[in-house]
Amino acid sequence: MGARLPGVERTFFCLKPDAIEKGLIGEIISRIERKGLEIIALKLVRVTRDQAERLYEEHRGKPFYEGLVEYITSGPSIPMVVRGVNAIRLMRNLSGATDPSEALPGTIRGDYAPGSPPGATIRNLVHASDSKEKAEREIAIFFKEEEIVE
Ligand code: PPS
Repeated sequence: MGARLPGVERTFFCLKPDAIEKGLIGEIISRIERKGLEIIALKLVRVTRDQAERLYEEHRGKPFYEGLVEYITSGPSIPMVVRGVNAIRLMRNLSGATDPSEALPGTIRGDYAPGSPPGATIRNLVHASDSKEKAEREIAIFFKEEEIVE
């Protein structure tokens, strides 16, 4: 597993179906590359209900849970593993705030995700892990270790 140099970590990042519908694959990947981060695994998939439930297990029972699972299973997604110094923080910063109405211009969500009506499922284009533990757990939902090019 990757983290050989001090501070180098890997994170899980996923382009959700609306990012792909809107033709934002290249734009978002460019931002990751321009930031100097490395993509070490990537695939185009239709996320299964089982994978979605595992990804969002901490939100089970919350009012938005069903909508969240439906959203990420509604079309193709692109899960990936991103590596670099402080990759977890950097990918969260590139993504912007979870709620697109709060996301600052210059971030992926701030530039491309429209606001969501109150109470509706937030459609915010991308998912980025928020801790090392979550990153490793989420990577394992979508990738076998041998699919990751370290
Ligand atoms: S919370 O409120 O602290 O549990 O939220 P958070 O940990 O930031 O992530 C919640 C994920 O659920 C998605 N989602 C919503 N959150 C809050 N309210 C509504 N209405 C909602 N709809 C969807 C949110 O986008 C987070 O998923 P990811 O994939 O991480 O963006």
